[in-house]
Amino acid sequence: MAGAGEDGNGWKICLKQQLSPAQCLEFSVPGTVKTSLARDIDGFVVNWQDTFFAYQNSCPHTGASLNWTPNQFFDLDLRFLQCGMHGALFEPDSGLCVRGPCLAQSLRQLPLSEIDGWLCLELDKCRKI
Ligand code: FES
Repeated sequence: MAGAGEDGNGWKICLKQQLSPAQCLEFSVPGTVKTSLARDIDGFVVNWQDTFFAYQNSCPHTGASLNWTPNQFFDLDLRFLQCGMHGALFEPDSGLCVRGPCLAQSLRQLPLSEIDGWLCLELDKCRKI
């Protein structure tokens, strides 16, 4: 596999080894004829205790992007994902909001798999989202 991008039914985001624990990486998948997505998908992948999750970068409160600087989604304690707009806190492994204006709502989780060491968005399942 070469660099990040589309590969078969997956969208290669990054190599798993590129993300340390409590580190995130933004990605964007264009909604094009090639990907057959109805719209662009802006998301981020997170390494939480060496388990990886992907979420849509959209706060359930207003739909705003969560991060206020590139690839920074964690709070200062590196315990919760935090919305930069109004400070809502989300569990990294479920996306559930545990404090803030969207309490008990969740980030939209995106289907992620690992292929040959790459973290890949499963495009087939994204087409149904
Ligand atoms: S936009 Fe995220 S908490 Fe308000």
